[in-house]
Amino acid sequence: MLSIIGIGLNDEKDITLKGLELIKSSDFVYLESYTSILQCNISALEKLYNKKIILADRNLVEQKAEETILKNAKTKNVSFLVIGDSLSATTHVDIMKRAKDLGIKINIVHNASILTAVAETGLQLYKFGKTTSIPFPEKNFRPETAYDVIKDNLSLGLHTLVLLDLRPSENRFMTVNQAIDILVGIQEKRKEKIITEKTKLIGCARLGSEDKIIKYGTAKELKEFDFGKPPHCLIIPGKMHFAEEEFVGQFK
Ligand SMILES: C[S@@+](CC[C@H](N)C(=O)[O-])C[C@H]1O[C@@H](n2cnc3c(N)ncnc32)[C@H](O)[C@@H]1O
Repeated sequence: MLSIIGIGLNDEKDITLKGLELIKSSDFVYLESYTSILQCNISALEKLYNKKIILADRNLVEQKAEETILKNAKTKNVSFLVIGDSLSATTHVDIMKRAKDLGIKINIVHNASILTAVAETGLQLYKFGKTTSIPFPEKNFRPETAYDVIKDNLSLGLHTLVLLDLRPSENRFMTVNQAIDILVGIQEKRKEKIITEKTKLIGCARLGSEDKIIKYGTAKELKEFDFGKPPHCLIIPGKMHFAEEEFVGQFK
């Protein structure tokens, strides 16, 4: 059996009782280690679960799962841990589908996700449009998809959640400041005025933790603000209801 278990956003204590019981009865416990990070060490998880954790990088999950995770799940109990919710990233939906194709019994345990934690800003989840992400720019890879998604969402008055690239194995995490720089760069190239220095944005860091930061301010202000440790995300508010505006105002 393969149990895909969301372990929440912050630390070892965010696991659900259902998730913990499944882990305790598992023969193998994998932790997906490439799409997000927790605010605690792996040792804290191992101590609470009383299990050895096998780190699963992108290559293991996307290229070698048939020989490892899925092979084990055919005959043993395997827990596959995901930071945040179990199925909010495409790569995790993919492993669920592959397990199903192989006739492996699947168990899904949900948890909090960044996709819903952003409600802490006071913005209504129903008024978010398509979520987008900004990858680290490479020499020949500078996609502008995030900018286009923001533009489309804004034209409908919708908020945009922008997820920021991270590469935990290289200790590289995109900051809110870098994300604003990238978006402003695209805009200047296109000679448009979607995110000017005065556009109000919301930057978030470490939502779900005690030292989380939510900061509401102009692009200029947020570009200079130090959000501290990762992970960070950026929100481009669309048309705000006065109740949203009032709540968000406390984060100025
Ligand atoms: C691919 S998403 C991970 C989704 C995760 N499975 C979930 O359900 O939350 C990773 C990105 O979400 C954002 N993110 C994740 N957790 C966050 C947090 N606690 N605070 C702020 N941003 C976060 C960051 O931009 C990070 O690079």
